Parts: sequence; structure tokens; C-alpha cells
Amino acid sequence: MKIAAFKIEEWMNKYSAKAEYDLTSTCISPLSINELPFSKEIFNTKLDYGDIEGSIRLKNAIKSLYTNCEIENIAITHGAIGANQLVFLSLLESGDEVVSVVPTYQQHYSIPEALGCNVKLYFLKEENNWLPDLNELDKVITNKTKLLCINNPNNPTGAVIPNEMLEKIVEIAERKNVWILSDEVYRGLNLIGKAYSKSIADIYERGISVGSMSKTYSLPGLRVGWVIGRQDLINEINHQRQYNTISISTLDDYFSAVALENKEAIAQRNFTILRNGAAILKNWIENNSTFRCVLPSGGTTVLLKYNFDIPSREFCRNLLKSTGVALLPGETLEMEGYARLGFCSENLSTALDRIKDYSEKL
Ligand SMILES: Cc1ncc(COP(=O)(O)O)c(C=O)c1O
Repeated sequence: MKIAAFKIEEWMNKYSAKAEYDLTSTCISPLSINELPFSKEIFNTKLDYGDIEGSIRLKNAIKSLYTNCEIENIAITHGAIGANQLVFLSLLESGDEVVSVVPTYQQHYSIPEALGCNVKLYFLKEENNWLPDLNELDKVITNKTKLLCINNPNNPTGAVIPNEMLEKIVEIAERKNVWILSDEVYRGLNLIGKAYSKSIADIYERGISVGSMSKTYSLPGLRVGWVIGRQDLINEINHQRQYNTISISTLDDYFSAVALENKEAIAQRNFTILRNGAAILKNWIENNSTFRCVLPSGGTTVLLKYNFDIPSREFCRNLLKSTGVALLPGETLEMEGYARLGFCSENLSTALDRIKDYSEKL
């Protein structure tokens, strides 16, 4: 299967490690094993393939994040990246119509395109606070559409779809017989309202939710994700999964379960980082005439609009060279003229000061 270059991954692999201040990341400072309340019994665990479809302990811990989920509705995957891919492989065939709401994680349009689907991109707009216009969305989704892909909370914009709006999106999808894949890796990181907004799998029969340990739980090194969905879809995913996963690592399964069983402590720690980052960003943007952004209602990133006439790749390369600060060019997200900033990054204040000094001299 031929597939487009994954633009953010290519950029980050090339530039992020070179940065003194890396604001390209979407993660909240990862936890170490020592910060998890694990039992020393883990050292006696035989490193065999483990529970092939994931342990019941892990599945129960994941189930607790949803209101309408049984063990049979869960598939355990290699990160959210594995989860998204398995959903596409299980659901789509060449010729299917897919609507992908962008900007988003590139998997959500490049994999369906590679599978030969007819992919329609629906672009969110800054003037709508990066939320979909429901009338427009209703027109883009047709009776031929098989799947709608959303990312909520959204990377890169930091927008969270309000629950009432999510219900209206479900109404549109239901009327047109459309599945919804909602990539919810940032679910639990809301800055407005309740920390966890509604999950699509809890409110829609053909809703498919993807989650993982990487963002909300600060454990990207565990490479554990999941799909929540209707049982027939999960059966199909487990069938596909035999060809590319076998099982997730026994250690990843164990530490993920321990972390989710202690999710309140992780949430408390991450909320402090999230709120501090958002406050620093707000103060910076309000005292800044070169950049603007819609302040985040969740997630870990925002899209900065800069007011120079320069392509985003060039802007980010020059910025990195002159200041040591790395941002992600909007072009890698199909959003030329913008740059993505991770506001939960370490040393955010210093990095933002450097960006300000640099841009004022341009
Ligand atoms: C929206 C979105 N989905 C999926 C992923 C992949 O996450 P994971 O580390 O769980 O594979 C990312 C990573 O940045 C992401 O931002």
C-alpha cells in the first residue's frame, strides 16, 4: 500500500531533537515507572505474549472511562496510532466515501486515501473557534458517506466540541447512516467544563472512540491504545489485529492497568501543568501583536497565526536556528500561515519570550 509522507512525523524526527526548547510536542511531561504504584511482583512476570487480546484487568480499567461500554466493546492496540489504523482497515474499502474534519492527525485522511477511498476534507475555521459549522458539515456528509472522522479534543487547535454540538453531529450521522470515528486521545484534558467530555462510543451506536495512554495519562512510552465500539466492529478489529499486533507487551499491559487504576492522581498532576501552561500562553498572547490564537478549551496544543508573509516551514526553520525554539509548521497540518505550539511543554515562559524577541525584530 503506497501512502503519503506523514508530514508532522517527518518534521519532528528531523528538527525536534535539535531544539533547546521543544514546543512541537503534544505530550504532558511523561511519567517514570517509579512514579507508578506498581508491585514488585511484576519482576516475576514471564515475558511471554501475555493475554493475546489484552488482560481483563486492563480492559476493566479502560471500561471505567466510559458509561456505555462492556469488555466485549474494547480492542487493545499498539497506541492510538494502531487503533486508528485498525479501525480504517476493518471498516473501509476502496471507493468508500470518508469525511475527515481537518486540521487533525494525518492518519485520518492519509490512510483512507491510501486504501482508495474518496476522502473529503472539511476544514475548521478560526473564526468559528475551530468548531464545525453544523450546516456546512451536514452538506459535506452525504448519503454515500461511510465514515466521519473527528478528533476531540482537537490536535492542533485545542478546541473541544461541546456536548450539545456533539449530539447534533450524531443526529446528522444517524440520519445518513454514517459511522463516526472520534480520536479521543486528549479526552480528560478539558480546560472548560468537566474534565472528560462525552465519548462518541457512549452516545452513538455507530460511534467509535479511540483512546490511549500517551496524552491524558502521560505514558506515551507504554504504546498502549484502544478502540471502543460495537461488538461486530471489535470482532473485525481483533481479526485484523492478528496480522499486525499479536498482543501488546505484557509490561505495557500491566503498567497501563496500574496507571488507569490511579488515574485521579495522574489527572491532578496533569491539570496543574495544563492550567499553568494555558495561563502562561494567555498572558503571552494578550501582550503580543505579532501572533494571535484561539485560546484552548482542552488538549495540549494551539495553532498560532503569525502576521509575516513567509511560509510556515521557513518560519519554523529560521526560528529554530535563531532561538533554539521548535514549533511545528502549519503546512505539515495543511494549515499554511500557522504554527502549532504545545503549551504543556517544559520551560514554556522562556521559550515564548524568545519567540517574542525574535519576531519583534523581523
Ligand atoms: C490525535 C492523535 N491521535 C493519535 C496519536 C497517536 O498517539 P499514540 O501515542 O497513542 O499512538 C496522536 C499523537 O500525537 C494524536 O495527536
